[in-house]
Amino acid sequence: MATTSRRRVPKEPFHIHEDEPANGSDMDELTESHTQVRADAGADNGQQFDHDDDQEDDEDAEQECDSESSDETEPIDLTVQEDMEKLNQTFPAFKDNYRLIKRIGEGTFSTVYKAEDIRYDRYNNSWDIDVKENQWTPPPPLKYASHSRSNSRSRPPRTKKFVAIKKIYVTSSPSRIHNELELLHDLRDSPSVCPLITAFRQSDQVLAMLPYFRHQDFRKYYPHMTIADVKLYFRSLFTALAAVHERGILHRDIKPTNFLYDPPKQRGVLVDFGLAEREGSDHKPCLCHLDQETRKQRVRASYALNAAHAGPQVGYPKNDTRPSRRANRAGTRGFRAPEVLFKCTEQTTKIDIWSAGVILLTILCKRFPFFNSADDVEAMIEIATIFGTKRMRQAGQLHGCVFETNIPSIGAQGFTLEKIMLWSTCRTDSKTGLTQEEKEAVLFLGRCMELDPSRRISAAEALDHEFLRLNGEDVVEEEGSEEDVAMV
Ligand SMILES: Nc1ncnc2c1ncn2[C@@H]1O[C@H](COP(=O)(O)OP(=O)(O)OP(=O)(O)O)[C@@H](O)[C@H]1O
Ligand SMILES: [Mg+2]
Ligand SMILES: [Zn+2]
Repeated sequence: MATTSRRRVPKEPFHIHEDEPANGSDMDELTESHTQVRADAGADNGQQFDHDDDQEDDEDAEQECDSESSDETEPIDLTVQEDMEKLNQTFPAFKDNYRLIKRIGEGTFSTVYKAEDIRYDRYNNSWDIDVKENQWTPPPPLKYASHSRSNSRSRPPRTKKFVAIKKIYVTSSPSRIHNELELLHDLRDSPSVCPLITAFRQSDQVLAMLPYFRHQDFRKYYPHMTIADVKLYFRSLFTALAAVHERGILHRDIKPTNFLYDPPKQRGVLVDFGLAEREGSDHKPCLCHLDQETRKQRVRASYALNAAHAGPQVGYPKNDTRPSRRANRAGTRGFRAPEVLFKCTEQTTKIDIWSAGVILLTILCKRFPFFNSADDVEAMIEIATIFGTKRMRQAGQLHGCVFETNIPSIGAQGFTLEKIMLWSTCRTDSKTGLTQEEKEAVLFLGRCMELDPSRRISAAEALDHEFLRLNGEDVVEEEGSEEDVAMV
C-alpha cells in the first residue's frame, strides 16, 4: 500500500507586492532584499490550477543550453534587443538593475533570458550557492606576490553575477503562475533546487528571477558519461528530489532540460516547477491505495458485474456508459510514469522517481529520447514492450484498469533491463556482457522503474542505495587523487 509521509512546512507568508504602474516607479523601492518575493502573480484565488490533458506538449522545446563559459564581457545578443526594450517599457527600472544578455530557453510556458545582475552587491544574496560553495582561499593578490610586475593589476575585477529571468507567458493562468512561485518560495533552502531570488509583476506580465546556473546540453554530455559520472549526476538529482518530496511536492516534469547539470562542477539544480503540485491536492480514492486483498475483491466484483451485464467481451465496448476517469497527466511524453498513463487518481511523489529512471535508462542505453511515443497509448505500448504484458496487466489492475493488447511484438514476459541495455549499446554478442558497475547501475534502475509505485524506491532511499551512497572510498578520492593517496 502506498502511503507517503509528508512533512508540513510551516507556512511562511508568501509576500506579494505589486509593481507600481509605469510612472517612473523605481524597482529599488521593491528590492529591499533579494530574498523576498516581490511578485504579484495575479489573483490568488486559492483555485487549483487545472492540470488537464492540454499540458502535455511541453516536450518539444529545443532548449538552447548555455554551455560556454560565463564570459565576463558577454555582449548583448541583437535578437534580444527588442525583448529588452519591451521589458524596459513594462518595468521602467529594469535597465538599472539587470542587463539582458541573451535568450537561453524558450519553453511552452516561458522564455528564459540570461542577464547580468548589476546591483548584486546591494542586496542580501543568501541564495548564491557559488558563494556558499566557494570554500577555497583565493591566491594572494599580485601586489603581494614576489614577482609582481604591475601594481595596476593588483585588484582583481569583481566577478559579474548572472541571473536567469523567466518571463512567464501571459497565457498562463494566474493561479498557475502563483503556484509555481509559491512552491519555489517554499523550496528556497532546498539543496540542488534552483531558488527563487525574487519576482516582478506588472499587470499580466510576470518575471521570476532565478540565479543563473551554468550547465551543458544533456545531448552533448550523456553519451560520454562513465558510471562514476552517472552516480554523481543522480546523487545530485535525487538530493533535489528528496528535498522536494520531503515537503510533499511532486515536480511532475522531471526530464533532462529541467535538471541543469554542469559536468565539470558535477553539480545540478532542479528547475521548472510550472507543473508541480502538492501531493494530495487533487486526490480521489484509487484502488492502488487499498490493501491487496480488498483490491482483488473489487476487481473480481467488477469483472463479474461486466460479465453479468454484457457476457464475455472481446475488444472494447462501443457505447461505454462508464464515467470517464479524469486524472492529472501533466508532464512530458516519454517520461510519464505508468500510473499517470493509467490515470491513477492518487498519484504520489513516486511519479518523479520513474521519470528520473527514464533519464538513467537513456544514459545507460545511450539513446535519447529513449521513449518516443506520440500519445499515452503508444507510451503504454513502449513500456509494455520492455516489461511484458503480464506485469503490465498487473500494473493496470493496481489502478482498476484492464490492459490488453494483441500486438505480436509484445511478449508476456518482456525483457530484463540488462538485456535492453546490451541491445541498445550493440553488445548482443553475449561474451561482452555488462561490467560489474554497469550491473549495479541496472539494479538501481530496476528500483526506479518499478511499475508499482508503492514498490518503487523513494528519493531518500535512493540516496542510501549502494549505487548512490557516498562511501569512505569516494570521500578519499574526492579529497585527493589516487597518486596522492598512494604517496601517503
Ligand atoms: N536558473 C537557470 N539558469 C540557467 N538556465 C536556466 C535557468 N532556468 C531555466 N533555464 C533555461 O531555460 C530553459 C527553460 O526553463 P524552464 O524549464 O523553467 O521553462 P519552461 O517554459 O517551463 O520550459 P519547458 O516548457 O521547455 O519545460 C531550461 O531548460 C534552461 O535551459
Ligand atoms: Mg522546462
Ligand atoms: Zn492508483
